[in-house]
Amino acid sequence: MKTIKPLNLELIETNLDCLSTNEGILIVLITPEGVMDPAARRLNKLTRGALTRLISSKKFKDADIGHLFQINFPDRCAAEQICVLKIGRRSSKATARKAGVAIAKMKGSVEILLALGNFPNLIELCKGVMLREYTFDIHKTELPIILEGSFKIKIMHNNPETLTGELVAAKAVRDGVFLTRNLINEPSNILTTEEFASRLKELSKLGVMVEILEEDDLHNLGMNAFLGVGQGSPSPSKLVVMRWSGAAKDVPPLALVGKGVVFDTGGISLKPAGGMEDMTMDMGGAAVVAGVMTALAKRKSPSNVVGIVGLVENMPSGTAQRPGDVVKSMKGDTIEVINTDAEGRLVLCDVMWFAQEKYKPSAMIDLATLTGAIIVSLGHENAGLFSNNDWLCKAVLEAADLENEGAWRMPLGSPYSKLLKSRVADIKNVGGRAAGSITAAAFLEKFVKPKIPWVHIDIAGVAQTKSESEHAPAGATGWGVMTLDTLVKNNFEEP
Ligand code: BES
Ligand code: MN
Ligand code: ZN
Repeated sequence: MKTIKPLNLELIETNLDCLSTNEGILIVLITPEGVMDPAARRLNKLTRGALTRLISSKKFKDADIGHLFQINFPDRCAAEQICVLKIGRRSSKATARKAGVAIAKMKGSVEILLALGNFPNLIELCKGVMLREYTFDIHKTELPIILEGSFKIKIMHNNPETLTGELVAAKAVRDGVFLTRNLINEPSNILTTEEFASRLKELSKLGVMVEILEEDDLHNLGMNAFLGVGQGSPSPSKLVVMRWSGAAKDVPPLALVGKGVVFDTGGISLKPAGGMEDMTMDMGGAAVVAGVMTALAKRKSPSNVVGIVGLVENMPSGTAQRPGDVVKSMKGDTIEVINTDAEGRLVLCDVMWFAQEKYKPSAMIDLATLTGAIIVSLGHENAGLFSNNDWLCKAVLEAADLENEGAWRMPLGSPYSKLLKSRVADIKNVGGRAAGSITAAAFLEKFVKPKIPWVHIDIAGVAQTKSESEHAPAGATGWGVMTLDTLVKNNFEEP
């Protein structure tokens, strides 16, 4: 099988003499006010004032910050193209990242040399390049040869040594995002529960402790809500625990819980055929958890984080769960299964309870492609956040903002949770048509122990998009890996 080769990105010391001899594409920066740094000045001199002419043009004045101008086959340079990036030294991180995305999209067969001098947002720009330099083409048998891992980019900086640590961290996060995207993009005949678990087992190579619980274990733990979802599928349900222990032993972990429905047909409450293929991404929450664990391990985060995912397939069959069935959760509450398509919450309620019982976390965040209703509310721009704790919710929102990943808080409360009252059991798994994402979150809230700060993130709208998104081509986005990595960095690491 082909593998996706990550981009070859190298940080080197500034050497202005390379500008005349380097082949391929040269990229230099000019501020919106038209101020050139030494590299731009050198190229301006070589080309007898081409950059000065660009700066004085109306085109330059009218262009947005972050625009790339191209000068082809420049005079007295070996390069085939000079690109001028219009960007200020005090530009925002988001602008720097966008510029990086634009550079990644120039990808071709030639090498790029980026002269950044001492541009302050260099790492953000690199992140933009790295995040956008992604394709999921392992199932295409014919690949254009130039696209196969040949894209190389050298970045000149005045003090590259001072940035190596940050670049390692950025690459760690990139690797986490790519793992998440690969898992989400992978079709369900390949990414079965077995295959998913074995890919997670690979994280042990990074120092993550990985433990896999099988159906017998889940049965002994009393996870009947979780088990009921998978009982119609020949693929065995599995719970995978990934532990990263980068902080002192006595620091209670942050728990990350993920919905890992490898395919969601709806079960006996079968989904309509149109668009059902999108349900290969119904393990998106679990994929984000795996991506975050990868990032934390690769950058050796001084934190304790436990990632727990429930892997299961929701299929109709003679052994499948029926609407009207009553199951007993690990917590002990009984649940009337009104609709077998509201399966994510049945998986999460047991996995969340297990996480709290076993790991006594300081806080818990669950991620799930939980409801179509969140797409009705927020589209593909924002994930929906639900929380019992203002501090934790604000911390997640701030991290999402820093990473340019959309997130919006939604309400909870007893008027919503009342809608889950069941005639025959303690609670039912759907609350009716109104406020579908909120009643789903309210269901989960019943399985959060008092005093545990908790955030539920409904990523149904943001995990995957039909057209390209901010940092990714069409398909899986990796939404959440960067947000949660930053959340951990800013709130859960030892000083
Ligand atoms: N996996 C779906 C939610 C989903 C929908 C994710 C669209 C991504 C895109 C979930 O299991 C589901 O089927 N939810 C139902 C709940 C309903 C039966 C109460 C839904 O949203 O329709
Ligand atoms: Mn469903
Ligand atoms: Zn689902």
